[in-house]
Amino acid sequence: MKAETLLAAACASRLRAYAPYSGFPVGAALYTSEGAVITGSNTENASYGMTVCAERIALFTAVHAGYRDFKKLAVVAESTPPPAPCGSCRQVLWELAGDLEVIMGNLNGDVKISNLSALLPQPFGSDSWHNNPFSKEEMENNKENWRIAVSFHPVGYVISDYEKPQEIPSNYKELVSQVFIEPDLKDGLHRLEEEREINVISYLHQARGYTLKDRRSGRGNEIFGVFACRAPLRPNSIAQSTVELLDVNNNILTVRGLDLINGTPVLDIKTVMPRL
Ligand code: THU
Repeated sequence: MKAETLLAAACASRLRAYAPYSGFPVGAALYTSEGAVITGSNTENASYGMTVCAERIALFTAVHAGYRDFKKLAVVAESTPPPAPCGSCRQVLWELAGDLEVIMGNLNGDVKISNLSALLPQPFGSDSWHNNPFSKEEMENNKENWRIAVSFHPVGYVISDYEKPQEIPSNYKELVSQVFIEPDLKDGLHRLEEEREINVISYLHQARGYTLKDRRSGRGNEIFGVFACRAPLRPNSIAQSTVELLDVNNNILTVRGLDLINGTPVLDIKTVMPRL
C-alpha cells in the first residue's frame, strides 16, 4: 500500500472527528498485514482529559476487530509540520503494533515518515517489567487466540447459466446447476453420492452492503433482523443452500435447487443433518 493511499484514508476519517473543543480534527489509518485498512478520528469530551486521539481510536477498533499485526499508520491533520502521534499514543502503539512505519501528513500535502522506534526511543514494554506474570511466549499465544480475522480458500465454484444475482429465476428450486470441486480435493467427495440432499456453503462474491433490520421480501415484506432471515446482503456474505444431489461425476456435482450465479466460490460441502 502506497503512503498516499493510506494518507487518503486517514484524511477521509478526519472528517468524522468529534473535536468541538480543540477544533483540531485528526484522522488516522492503520494498515494491517492482511491488507485491511482500519481508521479512527479523535473523539473529545467536555471533561477534556477523557479525549482519545485518532491513532488510539484506530488501533483499538482494529484490535477489537481481531487484527494483531500492523505494518503502517497514517495520521493527518491541518498542522505544520504534519502531526506526530502524542506520547501516549506512541506508548500504546508500541505495545500493540510494534515498530511500524508512521506516515504523517497535513492538508498541504507535506509528508514525514518515521518508524515508531525512532519516535519512541528506549520504549517501556511488558518485557521491561520483571514481575510480568506472562512469559513472552504466552503473550504471543494470546495474540493468536484473539485473532479472529479469517480468510478462506474456496474448495470449488458454481457452474450456472446465470451471471448476475438478479437473473436467477424465482423458481430456482427447479434449477439444475453444477458445482466444480478442485481436483486435488476429489477424495473428500468419497461416498457423497449416497446422499440425496447436501448443503453447499458459499461466498456471495457480488453481494455489497447490508442492513441489520429491514423489510425482507422473502418473509412477507415484514421487518426482520439480518440474522433472522436468509437475506443475501449480510455482514459476512456467506450462503448456505440445501440442494438435491442429482449426480457425482468425478469432481463435478450436479444439483437441483441452487440459487447461485456462475463462478460463486464454494467454501464447503456438508451433508444435511436429519431433523429430529
Ligand atoms: N490528537 C490526536 O488525535 N492525535 C495526536 O497525535 C495528537 C492530538 C487530538 C486530541 C485532541 O482531540 C486534539 O487533537 C487536540 O489535542
